Amino acid sequence: MPVAAKPATDLHLRRTSGIPGLDKLMQGGFLEKDVYLVTGATGTGKTLFCSQFLWEGLQKGEKGIFFSLEELPQDVLHDAEVFGWNFKKYIDKGDFIIKYEDPFEITDITTVVKESVKKFGAKRVVFDSTSIFGMVFEDEHELRKRLYQLIKALKETDAVILMTAEILEESKGLSRFGVEEFVVDGVIVLNYLGVGDVSNRSLVIRKMRRTDHSKDSFILKIGKSGLSIEKEKTL
Ligand SMILES: Nc1ncnc2c1ncn2[C@@H]1O[C@H](COP(=O)(O)OP(=O)(O)O)[C@@H](O)[C@H]1O
Ligand SMILES: [Mg+2]
Repeated sequence: MPVAAKPATDLHLRRTSGIPGLDKLMQGGFLEKDVYLVTGATGTGKTLFCSQFLWEGLQKGEKGIFFSLEELPQDVLHDAEVFGWNFKKYIDKGDFIIKYEDPFEITDITTVVKESVKKFGAKRVVFDSTSIFGMVFEDEHELRKRLYQLIKALKETDAVILMTAEILEESKGLSRFGVEEFVVDGVIVLNYLGVGDVSNRSLVIRKMRRTDHSKDSFILKIGKSGLSIEKEKTL
């Protein structure tokens, strides 16, 4: 007798985002072993989103690594303190690493990243941001190849991976180099109109494999405890 196929979601474990209101829009959270792109223009909250995701993991005993390619670790940690996230405590405990990688200094970032993730046993990984690749590789073919290799390598780890891509304000695309959005398992788009109050921020889940996710655009707020999704949808 044929065995009924298991629902795809059973194959993986979902990990909560730490952002109130978001998990219920994506069947409970991000899937283990999957790579997600958090994309948006500058100042839309991408780095904050990633810090909140890592903080959530630490509260649940899941080790995390933050690869920062743009901001210095002390700046990322300082920004997080505002929301009450004391990452230093977890660095001392050996559960959290924040690494500044100078992309110009590393010839093979893929190997460095993959090996650190495996060795540390990270369950959550952030790579902020992929946009820096544009500064390192002049040749577009080479750039896409390297980015593709990095994403593929990260997919082979057991962690949930969030990568950020900073898109230009006027861009219609979802990623900076047009390769990331096809290779990743999910894309979350953050928007900021840049006028007036916090309600001008929004979030859309553009793609999420193996997940019946919401397709609407929701109001995103930055409060005392970080980001949260409001019930109201935007147009
Ligand atoms: N404590 C805070 N309260 C309200 N808004 C904040 C706070 N901290 C940061 N922001 C907002 O978040 C933006 C930066 O978010 P960030 O995650 O660094 O964006 P990105 O990584 O997309 O460039 C700031 O420009 C500001 O508008
Ligand atoms: Mg940032």
